[in-house]
Amino acid sequence: MKVIRTIVELRDALDVYRKDGKKIGLVPTMGALHAGHASLVERSVAQNDITVVSIFVNPTQFNDKNDLMNYPRNLDADCALLEGVGAQIAFAPEVAEMYPEPDTRVFSFAPLDEVMEGPFRPGHFNGVAQIVSKLFYAVEPHRAYFGEKDFQQLAIIREMVRQLGLRLEIVGCPIVREADGLAMSSRNMLLTPEERTRALKISRTLFASLEYAKENTLQQTKAFVEEAINATEGFKLEYYQIVDGRTLQPVEQWDDSDYIVGCIALFCGKIRLIDNIKYKEVK
Ligand code: PAF
Repeated sequence: MKVIRTIVELRDALDVYRKDGKKIGLVPTMGALHAGHASLVERSVAQNDITVVSIFVNPTQFNDKNDLMNYPRNLDADCALLEGVGAQIAFAPEVAEMYPEPDTRVFSFAPLDEVMEGPFRPGHFNGVAQIVSKLFYAVEPHRAYFGEKDFQQLAIIREMVRQLGLRLEIVGCPIVREADGLAMSSRNMLLTPEERTRALKISRTLFASLEYAKENTLQQTKAFVEEAINATEGFKLEYYQIVDGRTLQPVEQWDDSDYIVGCIALFCGKIRLIDNIKYKEVK
């Protein structure tokens, strides 16, 4: 696997394959890779000739300086994982390479970016759109892979591709969970052992709510999750929203949509975690 640091070098490397009609898959990441990322890379390797994995902790999407500073970084371990799953190129630029001057572009994804993460992380999705669009311009992939754990991000990236008229396929991939159910996240490694145990309550509550939802209204199900999380010491719930899987707008009743997802964000101690569960899904 090649580790590439600059856009010029990346384009040169990819042109060789592009000329031969090879398909290019991109997996954008912020590093600190885990089995969830590996599943995205494996999917790309299966569907494309060349897989590029970008590793870049994007400063413009962090609305909290400490979060940016504490975000785990480990390029050597990341490269070892990527070798193991068959990626051909790791693109690991410095900040100055991606932002030679400040990016002043302002995106609007309303109403997708006005709900859930929106009010709690002002500017976050604008920063995500800035970096992901730059990566799409640099790599010009045929397909790009994103996890459904960041459910709102995935919907917003699809909308960005539509707005910019880009020609690539966005592939959403299911959440990968630890054996005990906790959704995989680079932030999990920042949890203390007690917090890690406590964090289990999140997926357990979401799974329990699937059962509960069968006999109860949507509003009761929402309250069921909120009460369980609020009753757990050391948790601070930011939101639990049950939304339409496409518009991300809250739904009132189970019959209101054929695609219904519950999305949660909370602090477990100082660490912010998100997760989601599908109550209904169109196939
Ligand atoms: O999901 C992430 O890790 C990041 O938001 C992404 C898509 C790599 C952009 O920095």
